[in-house]
Amino acid sequence: MALLSVVLLQTSHAQDQMELGKSVYMQLCVACHQPTGMGLPPVFPPLTQTDYVSGSPERFAAMILKGVIGPITVKGMTYNNVMPPQEALLTDEKIAAAITYVRGSFGNTSAAVPPDVVKATRAKFLERKTSWTEADLKAWPGAEAAK
Ligand code: HEC
Repeated sequence: MALLSVVLLQTSHAQDQMELGKSVYMQLCVACHQPTGMGLPPVFPPLTQTDYVSGSPERFAAMILKGVIGPITVKGMTYNNVMPPQEALLTDEKIAAAITYVRGSFGNTSAAVPPDVVKATRAKFLERKTSWTEADLKAWPGAEAAK
């Protein structure tokens, strides 16, 4: 019985995170990455089974916090645009939820990301003022880990 309620609690927590993540996505990410997650190539890249979505959760969090400056190649197409930083606008909970939503939608099947991962990433790069480049992201430790 105790075990069952733990499982149920975790399930409803996961559902809450997906719901919050969907609302953040639909308010913020959707303008560029589109409701389908397909983006608008060659201006906005897709979030459908890309290495950046399914790879390191810390790297994904860092991209949302600090933004990204092109050129960057995603699924064989080069994007030379800007993704704006969100660190001043979004809480750790909202960023974790948006990441979790993307990693569990659009054909993606990667694990949920807890707010603690975003919190730690935010603290680690507190002093960094610039957005990430492709070179930074490719050199990320454990870039392809934790799919
Ligand atoms: C103003 C447009 C814009 C918004 C808003 C935006 N992005 Fe992006 N995103 C981009 C662009 C453009 C790139 C490619 C980098 C570049 O050209 O600088 C990108 C790259 C990415 C990437 C890495 C490449 C890939 O396709 O896998 C991920 C992941 C991502 N964005 C997720 C998100 C999520 C999640 C949100 C919402 C929290 C978001 N983005 C909000 C424009 C945007």
